[in-house]
This record gives sequence, C-alpha cells and structure tokens, in this order.
Amino acid sequence: MNGQKEESRTVVCGQKEAIFVNINPGMVFVADMTKFTFYGHASFSIETGGKTLLFDPFFTGNPLAKDIDTDKIMADYIFITHGHGDHTGDLVALAKKTGALCVGAFEVAGWLQKNGVEKVHPLNHGGPVAFDFGKARAVNAIHSSSFGDGSYAGNPLGYVFTTANGNFYVSGDTALTMDMQLIPLWAAKLDFAVFPIGGNYTMDPADAIHASDFVKCNTVVGVHYNTWPIVTIDTEKAKADFAAAGKKLLLPGVGKTIEL
Ligand code: NI
Ligand code: MN
Repeated sequence: MNGQKEESRTVVCGQKEAIFVNINPGMVFVADMTKFTFYGHASFSIETGGKTLLFDPFFTGNPLAKDIDTDKIMADYIFITHGHGDHTGDLVALAKKTGALCVGAFEVAGWLQKNGVEKVHPLNHGGPVAFDFGKARAVNAIHSSSFGDGSYAGNPLGYVFTTANGNFYVSGDTALTMDMQLIPLWAAKLDFAVFPIGGNYTMDPADAIHASDFVKCNTVVGVHYNTWPIVTIDTEKAKADFAAAGKKLLLPGVGKTIEL
C-alpha cells in the first residue's frame, strides 16, 4: 500500500462486482453498484454515482405499469430516446414533478419547452456531453420519431454512458444496425446494455444477441416486450437462446431493482 493509489476491478461474465480504490492505507472507498429499476415496457431508472437517470417515462396507458406509484419516482435526469407516445406519455408530467434535467434530441427539447418544461439539454448524434454523473453520447438508432400529434421529434437516439462507476449503453427503440459496431470505440468495456427485444417495431431476441456481439457486451437487460400482443415473445426461449450464445438476458420484473 504505502499510500499508493491502487485500483482493482473484478469482472465476472461482464458483470462488475465492485471497484475498490485505496488512496491511503486503511481507507477503502467502494464505488456504488449501478442499479436498474424496471417500470414496464421501455421505462426504467438507472442509478449511478448517486444520481438517478429516468428513461422514457410511460405510465399512463402502460398496462405493465398499473401498480407503479409515480409519486415515488425521483429523477435527477430524464433521458428521452424518441418522441413516440410509449416513450414520452408521462414525460412532461414527470419532468415537472421531479424537476429533473431532460436530455433529448434538439426537437424533443424544443417540444418540452413548448410544454412548459424549462430544464432541458438538447443534443444530437455526436461527441459526448459531460454531466455530473459521467458522460453521455447520443448514438444512432434505426427507428422513427414523432410526437403523438404527428409533429416531428428529430432523430431517434440511443445513449452510451461512460462513468466512474462503469459504462452502459441504452439503445432505445432500434433495429439491429452496423452502427452498433462503433460503440466499443467509445466504451471499450460495457458493463451492460439495455435492448428492446419484443420484435415488430424493434429488434427481437435473435437480433439482440447479434447486437450484443456488435457492442462486445454479454450482459443484456431486455425491454419493450410483452406489453401488448404485437410485441409478445417467449421469454424462457429468449433467455435460453442468450445462454446458448454465452450471454445473459436479464428481465427484471416490473417495479423490481437489480444491481449491475
Ligand atoms: Ni418507438
Ligand atoms: Mn417504442
């Protein structure tokens, strides 16, 4: 030890166990685990570095979120992947209730401001943006993006996050795309990736396995499935297919929190 900074990081099957940093003998700082809480469909929170990032709030009309009490949802940031109603249904209400900084495409940020939300950070595909929990980079998603009234919502986005607590990728609604092969350039090691797996509008489990290869991350949290008949999949088969490919598909229950 001798007062030297030592850092060790244990990684098992793509899952970070803990980061221990010894700055002085006798002092050990343990970095927090990243926590993922699922609200059904493609709504979820990720807690990292003491901050809560809420993604694509959709509770009203989300059949999976009936038992979620939105009064209990706190957020420091709300990240929006695109304008579709199943990703923005409760965005304005949650933005106002939480006072979170809303991060989304330029057009989404403008729509929020028109709807009375002042704390917005507009961005687009490109270089990373530094926030107090780490950096976020908006990346391509192959999808479409408009608001419920048909107005233009810019390009659909995914986000790559690099933080002192670890790295993760939230693809947003997307098909499998070669652009995913760029992601290891920006985050050589991802701790987990959040992928839609319900098919029809997005990747299905088979394409999510290819996506996991593209981004070099074997731990996948599945979203955007079993909300309605059109996106219903056989979850046991999906998990088995991931396992056969040497990967892990995590499907936390609605309202449940997992550590990653
Ligand atoms: Ni969509
Ligand atoms: Mn969607």
